[in-house]
Amino acid sequence: MMFQIWLHAVLLFCGLFSNAIGAFVGVNIQTAVSNMPSAPDIVAILRAHQITHVRLFDADAHMLNALANTGIEVMVSVTNQEVLGIGELPSTAAAWVNKNIAAYVPSTNITAIAVGSEVLTTLPHAARILVPAMSNLHKALVASNLNYQVKVSTPNSMDVISRSFPPSAATFNTTLNSTITQILQFLKSTKSFYMLNAYPYYEYVKSNGIFPLDYALFKTLSPVKQIVDPNTLFHYNSMFDALIDATYNSIADLNFSGIPIVVTETGWPSFGGSIEPDATSGNAELYINNLIRRVSNDSGPPSQPAVPINTYIYELFNEDKRARPISERNWGLLYTNGTSMYDLALGNAEITGANSSSSFCIARPGADDKSLQDGLNWACGNGQANCAAIQKGQPCFNPDTLQNHASYAYNDYYQKMRGSGGTCDFGGTASITTVDPSYGSCRFTGSSNSSGGMFPSPALGPVGPSSESARTVHILHFGTIVVATLCLLQVNLRSFL
Ligand SMILES: *[C@@H]1O[C@H](CO)[C@@H](O)[C@H](O)[C@H]1NC(C)=O
Ligand SMILES: *[C@@H]1O[C@H](CO)[C@@H](O)[C@H](O)[C@H]1NC(C)=O
Ligand SMILES: *[C@@H]1O[C@H](CO)[C@@H](O)[C@H](O)[C@H]1NC(C)=O
Ligand SMILES: *[C@@H]1O[C@H](CO)[C@@H](O)[C@H](O)[C@H]1NC(C)=O
Ligand SMILES: *[C@@H]1O[C@H](CO)[C@@H](O)[C@H](O)[C@H]1NC(C)=O
Ligand SMILES: *[C@@H]1O[C@H](CO)[C@@H](O)[C@H](O)[C@H]1NC(C)=O
Ligand SMILES: *[C@@H]1O[C@H](CO)[C@@H](O)[C@H](O)[C@H]1NC(C)=O
Ligand SMILES: *[C@@H]1O[C@H](CO)[C@@H](O)[C@H](O)[C@H]1NC(C)=O
Repeated sequence: MMFQIWLHAVLLFCGLFSNAIGAFVGVNIQTAVSNMPSAPDIVAILRAHQITHVRLFDADAHMLNALANTGIEVMVSVTNQEVLGIGELPSTAAAWVNKNIAAYVPSTNITAIAVGSEVLTTLPHAARILVPAMSNLHKALVASNLNYQVKVSTPNSMDVISRSFPPSAATFNTTLNSTITQILQFLKSTKSFYMLNAYPYYEYVKSNGIFPLDYALFKTLSPVKQIVDPNTLFHYNSMFDALIDATYNSIADLNFSGIPIVVTETGWPSFGGSIEPDATSGNAELYINNLIRRVSNDSGPPSQPAVPINTYIYELFNEDKRARPISERNWGLLYTNGTSMYDLALGNAEITGANSSSSFCIARPGADDKSLQDGLNWACGNGQANCAAIQKGQPCFNPDTLQNHASYAYNDYYQKMRGSGGTCDFGGTASITTVDPSYGSCRFTGSSNSSGGMFPSPALGPVGPSSESARTVHILHFGTIVVATLCLLQVNLRSFL
């Protein structure tokens, strides 16, 4: 009995811990947007929505600079145009890595390079050069001693798989056997991961009514409509899970295992005009929020239940500059002013235990610098906000932008004064958010201090930011060793219960 209680405690602990390090939902940032905000404004928007992972489709210097010291993890991309040169010459790959990776790490946390975008299906003639390009980049990373931190892979669409249902019978299109085998060999030997672009929206539309819309939108299906794989008898609650399992099974068919899948793109268009009636704001809201809930539960698809499904949503903003169909211009989550298109629960607000009924006052993305500077001066002056944390060397100094400093000062003022009538306005440059803007060791006034909740916060006198974070790392390390060991045993432990 005691043993069982202990086991339950361990499993509970593993569950909580895996939330702290568990699956993430990131966002893709494309740029065919006519009034694209500046890079610092984009980063302020990411912050305001607590987005912790982004994928860029290039290695834009402005973005990589703006993302420095934010704690946001970044996947950069080699464009399809660049693949050829990098595949042909190792020196081109080395130059690319120096210019776009080595110049930014560690300040900017670049963790992966996506080599091209759906090269095998959009540029079949370039397929022969794809693996050499990946390999040249990897060698350049090894030479810079960055290969442990930065992984190399290439995003594939579902079109590389001949038939995706039932998932257990899925295989790669045989004409791609040799290229995909080389890719898998590369991913396996470099401990990288498979990048999958998985769009239930397109699969649903293509299926012409074979699959119910609810299945694509993660809604519960009535017992008679359950989607079951006849070979494995796995029940599929969502098409998203089925597409991922189809890919795992295709990989297994080529005799590879132990290569995790990361979903580099998925999403739902919020408008499609009369030719795409299922591209609606209501469906997009359902898909995205259900997706976030699905991924955040940390479980894998039925064939790989222990492998979390890290996922990047496509995409941050609507791309009004794209050509037809209309849906192509309507995949965005947010307007360029940072307001979401529909109710959206991004970020890990529940996971970090922020008090969702509390509100914060931050600088409005896009507010002009002059007005922000005036607002900041007023808040730290007459407004009597405590602006110590945004001074050089203090936890909220980086990123060193007006947007960030004003947000911190506005919020400190607002938290202290709202009880006595203080407002969140600052000449129209401020707005209220319920999302806690805190990041890393920068805690915004009014933020709950718990970061995961499992570890006692070091209850010691005033400590500098560096010694405080060193102590946290220490505690985390100890916790990691104990918990990782226990959690690795989790599957076995469950069988005792
Ligand atoms: C970068 O991200 C990795 C992966 O999550 C993490 O382990 C590492 O601590 C981060 N590095 C910095 C400098 O934030
Ligand atoms: C496999 O790929 C080839 C060449 O790209 C294509 O012609 C064929 O239709 C594909 N087969 C299937 C079943 O998707
Ligand atoms: C591709 O691989 C599959 C599965 O291993 C095999 O059945 C098929 O014969 C291969 N096709 C070619 C063209 O190599
Ligand atoms: C996978 O392994 C099986 C069993 O060893 C073998 O029969 C099959 O040919 C292999 N397939 C490939 C694509 O290597
Ligand atoms: C997580 O999601 C999977 C797939 O939908 C589901 O089978 C599982 O029960 C969920 N787990 C929890 C703890 O909600
Ligand atoms: C942001 O832009 C959208 C669309 O133009 C608009 O509806 C919304 O009111 C704006 N939000 C703010 C806070 O200005
Ligand atoms: C959240 O904050 C509000 C106002 O500060 C407080 O009344 C409420 O009890 C808090 N809720 C939780 C769950 O901490
Ligand atoms: C959060 O931490 C700060 C300083 O470490 C402290 O002054 C404040 O009271 C704490 N707030 C809560 C809600 O624990």
